[in-house]
Amino acid sequence: MNWIAGDGSPSLRRFPAGFLWGASTSSYQVEGAVHEDGRGVSIWDTFTHTPGKVNRGDTGDIACDSYHRLDEDLELLSELGVGAYRFSVAWPRVQPDGAGEINQRGLDYYRSLVAGLRGRGIVPVATVYHWELPQALEDRGGWPNRDTARRFAEYAELLAGALGDEVGMWITINEPLQAAHQGYRTGTHAPGKTDLGLAAAATHHLLLGHGLAVEAIRGALPGRVPVGIAIDVHPVRAASEDAAPAAASMYAEDRIFLEPVLHASYPTAARAELLPDADLIGPDDMACIAAPIDFLGLNYYRPYYVRLGDWDDLRFSEKPVPGHPGVVSYVPPGLSQTPMGWIIEPDGLYDTLQALDREAPRLPIYITENGCAAEDYLTPEGTVNDDDRIAYLEGHLDAAWRAIRDGVNLAGYFHWALMDNFEWARGYQRRFGLYYVEFGTQRRVPKRSAAFYSKVARTNALSAGVDEIHEDALAAATALRAS
Ligand code: FCB
Repeated sequence: MNWIAGDGSPSLRRFPAGFLWGASTSSYQVEGAVHEDGRGVSIWDTFTHTPGKVNRGDTGDIACDSYHRLDEDLELLSELGVGAYRFSVAWPRVQPDGAGEINQRGLDYYRSLVAGLRGRGIVPVATVYHWELPQALEDRGGWPNRDTARRFAEYAELLAGALGDEVGMWITINEPLQAAHQGYRTGTHAPGKTDLGLAAAATHHLLLGHGLAVEAIRGALPGRVPVGIAIDVHPVRAASEDAAPAAASMYAEDRIFLEPVLHASYPTAARAELLPDADLIGPDDMACIAAPIDFLGLNYYRPYYVRLGDWDDLRFSEKPVPGHPGVVSYVPPGLSQTPMGWIIEPDGLYDTLQALDREAPRLPIYITENGCAAEDYLTPEGTVNDDDRIAYLEGHLDAAWRAIRDGVNLAGYFHWALMDNFEWARGYQRRFGLYYVEFGTQRRVPKRSAAFYSKVARTNALSAGVDEIHEDALAAATALRAS
């Protein structure tokens, strides 16, 4: 391999041949068309239409209208020059009630998407579940009900059968930690429940659903298509020795999904109230959950920093860490945050990749999500100068490059997101896209970061900054699309 520089200097850093460059989205965040062609209702439809749940009352009813703008969005991917697109399938679009009846028209949409990608030489990477549980299943208990795991496997089998090996990689579940934690423990995501017991049961059944889905997809497509899961892991850093035990236990809790998938056991250092009761765990469950996967998807955005602190007398940037009395998270001097309040630290990505590679030696890792929100706006000239996103990208791609140089088996990187979209409880106010979306008109405009990322993807290498050639090329392609 032809490594050019190893010290993070702005010289050319090449990625290995065949490294997969992609962009990500998820169905509810971009599709819209929630009442169209027989789509059923998902827990996010219900949640967003419940007053007070989402910033400014935003919903995914229209989102980026990608359901109606398939060709235009496929063109964005071609313009960018990425080799892969990670999208998700809306369960209620293809199986409105989460069981039985298939909705052919919904399935056809994903067939066209996959064919459109293949026709452009782009590998389709499908996430089976990116949080859109059919409401009918939630009404029967949702993820805390073991039956949902079985329904999920049936749905996965159905998709694998219908889309076949045209899909290049299958991801069973996106960030099951957030689905259980925010969905059933803190209630900040759909279905908005706040019950420790429900969250712990959901945890186990999401994992079981993953294991059963791996089996089902492999059954439908024997030995042909790689199957994995996308997990979010965060480094937890202690500011001083006295905070180290708290950091260790927070880190264990962060790994409640990773450990079962890789090692067939729940982390013993996690608080008992976060773990499923023993009577929920069937004799074969852990083996099913830990069935070997073909790759691990990592969603990385930020680390946590913790120290001991007084919850009644919080200092600047401190926040109580729920479940850990006397422990606070904080923003260390010198590190900045994105508008999400997430600390920016590329070394957190480097360290996470190293830790995963040690834990699962040689298992291919894909960064299935990484990116940042920024306060983007259209200038009077019609451009979006998101230099802060370029800096974030440059730092994190450099961390990925260093990890590969140091032996980590990293096989691809997917930027979150292709375009601005519905950012869950934050609504449309948080923009993560490489493309700016003017939501009133649905016009898509490449940001400077799109030119930067396009150059990286096309050259399979990282060099400093954006150059005019790529900015001009992308602007010209967009002008052509609009004419
Ligand atoms: C992740 C989600 C993704 C997106 C990013 C910003 O947790 O998987 O859908 O919202 O955060």
